[in-house]
Amino acid sequence: MKELDARIKKEYPVLTSRDIVYLDNGATSQKPQVVIDTVNEFYEKYNANPMRGLYDLSYEATEAYDNARKNVADFIGAKDSDCIVFTRNATESLNLVAYSYAESVLKEGDEVIVSIAEHHSNFLPWQNAAKKCGAEVKFFECEQDGYFDPEKLRGMVSEKTKILAITHVSNIFGRVNDIKSFAEIIHGVGGVIVVDGAQSTPHIPVDVTELDADFFAFSGHKMFSPMGIGVLYGKRELLEKMPPFLYGGEMIEYVFTDRVKFAEIPHKFEAGTVNAGGAVGLNAAIEYIKGYGFPFIEERENALTVSLIEKMKEIPHVNIIGAKDPLEHHGIVTFTIDDVHPHDISAIFSDNKICVRAGHHCAQPLHKHLGLFSTTRASLAFYNNEDDIDAFIDTLKKIRGLMGYE
Ligand code: ALA
Repeated sequence: MKELDARIKKEYPVLTSRDIVYLDNGATSQKPQVVIDTVNEFYEKYNANPMRGLYDLSYEATEAYDNARKNVADFIGAKDSDCIVFTRNATESLNLVAYSYAESVLKEGDEVIVSIAEHHSNFLPWQNAAKKCGAEVKFFECEQDGYFDPEKLRGMVSEKTKILAITHVSNIFGRVNDIKSFAEIIHGVGGVIVVDGAQSTPHIPVDVTELDADFFAFSGHKMFSPMGIGVLYGKRELLEKMPPFLYGGEMIEYVFTDRVKFAEIPHKFEAGTVNAGGAVGLNAAIEYIKGYGFPFIEERENALTVSLIEKMKEIPHVNIIGAKDPLEHHGIVTFTIDDVHPHDISAIFSDNKICVRAGHHCAQPLHKHLGLFSTTRASLAFYNNEDDIDAFIDTLKKIRGLMGYE
């Protein structure tokens, strides 16, 4: 096992060149050398503006970009790669849906249901769109352990409900939500479901067709890819009807001084020069994930999460947020320590060369719902190992003492 642990860690330049324990994977993952090399190779060998030049170099860049799109579609179970739009990140993907879809369909008196556990990027776009259209935002609340009951949702929806926005895996609880049931409920009243997949795509297999998600958004940077590349999946019939989000080059068929015909999807939503290097990096990251395979990734992450949570449970005054069962956490362990502010906790971890996140994690409504102001979060990737857990636990045990408590 130690040999395997060392071999996996060695693939990550940051993890080998810096003397740190990195447990902030929910914020962003580290990048393996193979992804870094593939991005470099794009700029060294294929760089040209994709879809613009009528010469070999540009054709090669276009091919690399198109292949990335096909691989993303396959990775998330989308049958049609035209339904994959490249964006900057999950936030931009969700804003695209809010501006282009929500603002086209929402009317005065309509309702948007947002889960209380949303990251601000899957709440604020809906708050904004609803305000502009005279619609109302309603909150789908979870239990203290992060469970969202489909029956509660069934009791909330009506023909006024046009959109349900909910995360696949919460960045606080790590729990997988029952998207398929929620989709069935919202479709029953003629609405659509918008899923934030930023925290699921790095950890579990995703099949948007099986989930029956109308829109599904995620970021590359949380799944071993460069920053600045994200994805929006949308059902063809929805994307085709939506107006563009950004206007400019490459998203048109033709332009006259008094009219324009927009390009077909996905190009209609990809105005300006695209992030081909990022897409190629995302493609390499998907190949990297496929190389290990989700059964292997999940098995490692689950074993580490069980170990981490069981050890945390033995430490007095440490309170874990969310489900009791470690297998519901998918590598995300958010916690408080009685009497100690999360910023102090994070600073002590940092002094011990351990990276965790502290604060509200861009989920203030959820913190309020749980009666918390802020929390600390350790979030794992499959490249972490038992030594990382032990280093974390050693420091965790000392924190209250360092702050002057028994
Ligand atoms: N969404 C990221 C997180 O939860 C930044 O940390």
